[in-house]
Amino acid sequence: MECLALPVLPAETDGGSVVLGPGADEASEALGVDLLGVLEGMAATGRAGEITRVPVLVGEWRLVLLVGVGDLSSTSFRRAGAALARAVKDRASVATSIASIAPPAEFRAFVIGTMLGSFEFHWRSEGAKARPVPRVVLAGLDESPTHRDELRLALALGGAGWRSRLLATVPSNLKNPAWLADQAVEMAAPAGLAVRVWDEKELAEQGFGGILGVGRASATPPRLIQVSYEPSAEHGSDLRHVVLVGKGITFDSGGLSIKPAQGMATMKRDMTGGAVVLATMAALADVGCRVRVTGLVAAAENAVGGDALRPGDVITHFGGRTSEVNNTDAEGRLVLADAMAYAVAELEPDVLVDVATLTGAMKVALGLQTGGLFANDEVLAQRLLECGDAAGEPLWRMPLAADYEEKLESKVADADNAAGGPGAITAALFLQHFTGGLPWAHLDIASVGDSTSDRHEWTEGPTGFGPRLLLDWLGQAEPLAAVGAR
Ligand code: BES
Ligand code: MN
Ligand code: ZN
Repeated sequence: MECLALPVLPAETDGGSVVLGPGADEASEALGVDLLGVLEGMAATGRAGEITRVPVLVGEWRLVLLVGVGDLSSTSFRRAGAALARAVKDRASVATSIASIAPPAEFRAFVIGTMLGSFEFHWRSEGAKARPVPRVVLAGLDESPTHRDELRLALALGGAGWRSRLLATVPSNLKNPAWLADQAVEMAAPAGLAVRVWDEKELAEQGFGGILGVGRASATPPRLIQVSYEPSAEHGSDLRHVVLVGKGITFDSGGLSIKPAQGMATMKRDMTGGAVVLATMAALADVGCRVRVTGLVAAAENAVGGDALRPGDVITHFGGRTSEVNNTDAEGRLVLADAMAYAVAELEPDVLVDVATLTGAMKVALGLQTGGLFANDEVLAQRLLECGDAAGEPLWRMPLAADYEEKLESKVADADNAAGGPGAITAALFLQHFTGGLPWAHLDIASVGDSTSDRHEWTEGPTGFGPRLLLDWLGQAEPLAAVGAR
């Protein structure tokens, strides 16, 4: 069935009437329905994402959806898009004038919301429970380059969000480190990226003791995945270089410091940081990124076995720094440390950003709707906070409080991997030792990695939080400007 969706704006004055957007008068007339009267009868408010369904008979039944667009902000348009996408699942198509009343950034948000609200993943033998609408017609747009550019951007950002969510949703009986590396190889060619993958033998030869240690009890050995993006030559040769590092734990059982069953339930998606890095890399060309970007994913399964790391073991990271593994469940920092040390030693980055579902403490601190940001650089922190707000992936800055540094001390190694509370902060302090003093930001997305319900553009389950904010940032990054200024 074909659907029509029209925007509803809240009343301008207290007690006034909601306002219907473009196309409403024509539709009311053609369909013989007083749409405004329906809204009043339903006590519609026009708040973002509110949906009023009006079935009409015009030869055959058609569905008219009246969609609240709230205060006309990006957030409201994103939510309106997501609500519309949910309301038109299993329909053949929807035509809407909503996009035509949105300025460029809000237009982009609407399209992204529509894409992500449609997200579905299933392996049901009898087919999907519901199918995303295959066709969305954006009516009333002019043919301006702005709209075309914004649409291209929206498809890149929405697509990256979809991809990271999809990777995080795949179950761990399929998604092992080698599989993740294959995904990187597969997405690299069409996105114009170079890929390099280290297998367990190469990791051992080159001293990646963190990745190897965490991955050693698994039947599926670890990988380090490197994906590289070079902007086109017209931007010059001495470009800034951003390195993104993602935690790619394809399943986190906790290792010998094993998790209780409930804590393990969502751990197939402990590679969300890695998925975010891959999805971001694949979309860099589409957002016209003008800086060099290298993505690293430290992929390992944190399993239990006779060969597993024991509490108290000491491992040596890439470059020689050592960690006492007092809790094998604090594995994310061990694999990230190797990748970060490698980046600093070999890749000459100007900026480092790591993304990881790192600590349960982040959930306690920020709840489930806000990601944690740690940064040693004011300019970088500010940019990421702004991009997070604009993209609908909000971050809150946490302190790299030096007073807790003493908690990391170990009698037998450079650091203890399980320094304890405040857990998100001590984890960030642990990582800071692997930044070589470069401008660095750490996104602890454990808080936002999983949604407990369908909510705005999130669907229940893995959220894939991060690529929209990173692409917003990298798409606008100046090729030669200092990225950080401390
Ligand atoms: N992957 C977990 C963190 C996590 C918890 C992500 C809940 C998403 C939801 C991480 O590897 C972990 O287990 N961290 C421990 C660290 C502790 C042992 C120092 C934690 O947060 O409990
Ligand atoms: Mn863990
Ligand atoms: Zn983990």
